[in-house]
Amino acid sequence: MFNSSPLTAAQAAEEVKTGAAAQPAAGAGARPRHVAIIMDGNGRWAKARGLPRLAGHRRGAETVRRIVEAAPDLGVEWLTLYAFSTENWKRSTEEVTGLMELFAIYIRREGRELKRRGARVRFIGERGRLAPDLATAMARLEADTAGNDKLNLTIAINYGGRDEIAAAARRLAEDVAAGLLDPACVDAAALESRLATHGFPDPDLVIRTSGEMRTSNFLPWQTAYSEFAFVDDYWPDFSVERFGEALASFGARQRRFGAVG
Ligand code: FPP
Repeated sequence: MFNSSPLTAAQAAEEVKTGAAAQPAAGAGARPRHVAIIMDGNGRWAKARGLPRLAGHRRGAETVRRIVEAAPDLGVEWLTLYAFSTENWKRSTEEVTGLMELFAIYIRREGRELKRRGARVRFIGERGRLAPDLATAMARLEADTAGNDKLNLTIAINYGGRDEIAAAARRLAEDVAAGLLDPACVDAAALESRLATHGFPDPDLVIRTSGEMRTSNFLPWQTAYSEFAFVDDYWPDFSVERFGEALASFGARQRRFGAVG
């Protein structure tokens, strides 16, 4: 599935085990600093086993825990996870409620551990439609981990990339209307500074599991120059080893950002 790479999956897995520093060995390719993941395939994982869809999401939450734990040892400084899109409200009430409960459980069970491990947790997405208890728990975890810098973990809940860009455009328009901004100064940097991800480095690598090859409104502005890795595993089956392979595939690529190589 992935290009051949100077860093093998076995080496990557070994680094996770040993906690070896993220420095690539001489001659090895670069590591992505910011990895964004579209966690897809929970429903199909469950269906293949004759289980309810929520069972797939529960297993998916375990994968989240493993990948978050492994990320810093693999040199990943920023990890952004697509947990719930603005379109996911179209699912059954049972599934939506179950997912919201899972997010609350994750925060409750993992929050302290994330803090202890030095993760700074942030959430992006529109919070107005979330249950007040969940929104409060999210804000509390953000505040509790605000001083951490070992891993920047961002979880996208009720996130839609087009909505995010539209909201940024609205803020620009408001600032222009209020006389705070000259229309001639509306450029990419001005818009970026009004995105939810302002100040984040753009994702170097986007991984999507489950064999689907689309981006589904995930960080459309921020991924303009990202590399993509599409992995066949359903998200509950996505292992640290496969994560290492995806990171290694990135090291084999040449990024030109529009320039001649
Ligand atoms: C997409 O798979 C997955 C989701 C919409 C939910 C993602 C949620 C988790 C991984 C659970 C926990 C997350 C956190 C942050 C604790 P799908 O259900 O659309 O799969 P399908 O395409 O096979 O139906």
